[in-house]
Parts: sequence; structure tokens; C-alpha cells
Amino acid sequence: MEESPGAYNPIVLDHLKQPRNMGEMEDPDGVGEARNPVCGDTMRLFIRVESNRIVDVAFLTFGCGAAIASSSLATEMIKGKTIEEALEISDENIVHALGGLPASKIHCSILAETAIRAAVTDYRKKGKKE
Ligand code: FES
Repeated sequence: MEESPGAYNPIVLDHLKQPRNMGEMEDPDGVGEARNPVCGDTMRLFIRVESNRIVDVAFLTFGCGAAIASSSLATEMIKGKTIEEALEISDENIVHALGGLPASKIHCSILAETAIRAAVTDYRKKGKKE
């Protein structure tokens, strides 16, 4: 989707230019995928969990600037959190922490929330022994 970087605030632009925790993770404890059915953008989130706490995180997002910034910020938000705390993070929390998104881009943050839930579901399904 075409977009103008001028529409984004400095926090969003910072995450967009220097995404945190971007890349793949080898042998993660949980992997979550999310896809926006409207635009087709996707996010894949990897988590490493120790004693019920997310100790490492990585993401790959193929999508618009808002989706990449939301993904980057979401990884910072969940790193160090317990599984239960991570599940409490909503797309509204992500948009708020980003200092807001243009109205037409609010939905892009849902990718990150969905990917967090999917990664936790995958982690729980695998039933990692601590
Ligand atoms: S336009 Fe697709 S996630 Fe933003």
C-alpha cells in the first residue's frame, strides 16, 4: 500500500527506520503468525520463554510502515513480560505506546496483537518443560 512517511509521528518513524528485534529466531519456543485479510500484510513473531517469562523475541513483518512499527514496538513491550502479562497487551496499548497512528492505519496494529496471541498459543501447545 502506498503511504507517506510524513503521516507518521517521530516514535513511529524511529521504529520504522530502526526496527527492534527484527529477524528470525532459531528454535523458538513459540511462533505466531498473523495476516491482515484486507491488505494481505503478514507478521511472524518468535518467542523464547523461560520460567513462564518471555526472555527473547524476534519478528518478521511484510507490510506497511505502521505494521512494521507496531511489530517492533510490540516486541519491546513483551520482552521480559510473563506470558499472562503479554496476553494483556491490546492493539490499543500498542497504538497508544506509538503515540498514535493515522486513522487509516489503526487497524495495522492488530497484526501485532494477533501475532502475540498466536505465539503464546503455539508455546502452550508445545508444552515446553521448564
Ligand atoms: S496496510 Fe496492511 S497492515 Fe497496514
